[in-house]
Amino acid sequence: MKEPYYKAYEKRYQAAFSAGAERWGHSPDDEVLYNTLKSWVEENNLQGKRIIEYACGEGACGVILSELGCYYHGVDISPSAIEKSKELLKKYPNATVEVLDMVKESVKEEYDAALDCMGLHMLVTDNDRYLYLKNAYDSLKDHSPMLFFRESYRKDGTYHGIVNSVDEWAQITGEDYHTPQLRQVRNADNGSMMTVFVPLLPARAKDKNQYIDEFNKIGFNMEKFIEMNVSNAIPYSASIYVRKGK
Ligand SMILES: C[S@@+](CC[C@H](N)C(=O)[O-])C[C@H]1O[C@@H](n2cnc3c(N)ncnc32)[C@H](O)[C@@H]1O
Repeated sequence: MKEPYYKAYEKRYQAAFSAGAERWGHSPDDEVLYNTLKSWVEENNLQGKRIIEYACGEGACGVILSELGCYYHGVDISPSAIEKSKELLKKYPNATVEVLDMVKESVKEEYDAALDCMGLHMLVTDNDRYLYLKNAYDSLKDHSPMLFFRESYRKDGTYHGIVNSVDEWAQITGEDYHTPQLRQVRNADNGSMMTVFVPLLPARAKDKNQYIDEFNKIGFNMEKFIEMNVSNAIPYSASIYVRKGK
């Protein structure tokens, strides 16, 4: 991948939106997402608290968390996704979003909780993952929870070496991240299914022990690891509940 990393995401959202797609990622109507966030908010008393979402995409979690009474701030590297989420969240006065590279930049304020919905697994190099998790950890108050929802997960057979670049990852996996491939999305006007052609984006699956090691290294303690059912969004995934360790 010669282009800056973020351009691939921006291109994907642009391709979907210009073709008339309603959205690319999660919908606020996703029942599993809604129920998971509702329980997480209740269990951690997050109503009226400040939550940061990393890799927020088009703002589906922002809608759910706002409806649940939280103060929401979402960040994403793609300007088109952030525009879309602004539009979706405009009726919630306590919801804000901004363009931010969660690997290279950090947010200015401290939060009571953090959320990542299919964001961490999009980072494939060990260094990017470490920098992002460290940024997320530093943005939280002590003892705050963080939820990683639907992250790519395999029971076994994951790559255990260090990954230094996206090109290296492409060689390891043998995946083609350049040729546009057919994907189905829902039309914004009439709800019918339509196709767009976009290249596959790199993602890295981990097994449970790898996730535990990765979170421990930062100072997060893993409290729950839930294997998820197959969904339209991703076949094999887990939701991981961690807490800032001190
Ligand atoms: C699989 S999508 C998930 C989007 C949304 N959370 C959802 O579930 O619909 C991954 C998101 O990560 C964002 N992303 C990738 N790298 C990023 C980075 N370095 N900083 C911030 N966002 C990033 C992409 O723009 C994309 O919106």
